Amino acid sequence: MLIDTYGRVATDLRVSLTDRCNLRCTYCMPEEGLQWLAKPDLLTDDEIVRLVGIAVTSLGIEEVRFTGGEPLLRPGLVGIVERVAALEPRPQTSLTTNGIGLRRTAAALKEAGLDRVNVSLDTLRPDVFKTLTRRDRHQDVLDGLHAAREAGLTPVKVNSVLMPGLNDDEAPDLLAWAVEHDYELRFIEQMPLDAQHGWKRDGMITAGDILASLRTRFELTPEGEEARGSAPAERWLVDGGPHRVGVIASVTRPFCAACDRTRLTADGQIRTCLFATEETDLRAALRSGAPDEEIARLWKHAMRGKKAGAGLDDPGFIQPDRPMSAIGG
Ligand code: 5AD
Ligand code: SF4
Repeated sequence: MLIDTYGRVATDLRVSLTDRCNLRCTYCMPEEGLQWLAKPDLLTDDEIVRLVGIAVTSLGIEEVRFTGGEPLLRPGLVGIVERVAALEPRPQTSLTTNGIGLRRTAAALKEAGLDRVNVSLDTLRPDVFKTLTRRDRHQDVLDGLHAAREAGLTPVKVNSVLMPGLNDDEAPDLLAWAVEHDYELRFIEQMPLDAQHGWKRDGMITAGDILASLRTRFELTPEGEEARGSAPAERWLVDGGPHRVGVIASVTRPFCAACDRTRLTADGQIRTCLFATEETDLRAALRSGAPDEEIARLWKHAMRGKKAGAGLDDPGFIQPDRPMSAIGG
């Protein structure tokens, strides 16, 4: 098992398949993009499948989530999903994507064994989308979402980040739209993980703001603590149900005590937290011929270094060097 010194057990593995992206969300990347990882530094498809295999068969990982950057940009994605879904015991599989290109790939991903998708969409207004992501691709995301639902990659979850002065008035519209289309909407508080280090606490839209805004149009009933489990989203029934809305209050109500995650970056580093300042290099071990047992040992050892919390409120908090796009959401 992957157990840390606070007794938390990691059963959820997030695998970043690339640090590249075809959008430039302002809370994530600068206009010009970033210095991308060089191809030889990326894990190969075989290396990814081997590491995930070790995690699933020897380390108790039950759920594998593919992220990026934008994971649909990884050429071998469908094959990776297929091989991971064929592992024993079969892990749950999901994909966190911006939705661009999902229209073409949703059916193949389902066929390969993908269970679910999380699609990021922050606005229903094409012009605001263009300002927020610096790309004119709003319709592609809507098409991708539709294709995911048609392909049965359900429940289709939609992640939204609200930015002051841009889309912070859209929470009720987003929820009405999600209910209408049967998507499960979750709002995520903006975290200090942007490459530009431009995050400011006093500028961010909080979970409290989001709930107040939603309550102007909907009746929200809390789902209760038991339902939350280790899921970061706190959920509410919308107008008595069955539809729900989630809020991931990463900053104002962090859920670190229940965290069940471990992360693998596209260049083969284990991170125990989005905000970790240390990494464990599994790629070097792989490429020097380490057997599975040695890799499992390194992974378990890495988890011993997992901190109690993200430490956003610590006076000495420093933002990690890697931005979100190079860690995986
Ligand atoms: N804060 C909060 N959420 C973020 N995401 C990307 N960067 C940030 C940030 N700084 C979101 C994306 C996506 C998910 C993986 O994380 O919009 O939905
Ligand atoms: Fe791309 Fe996601 Fe970053 Fe937006 S938030 S630029 S979609 S990686």
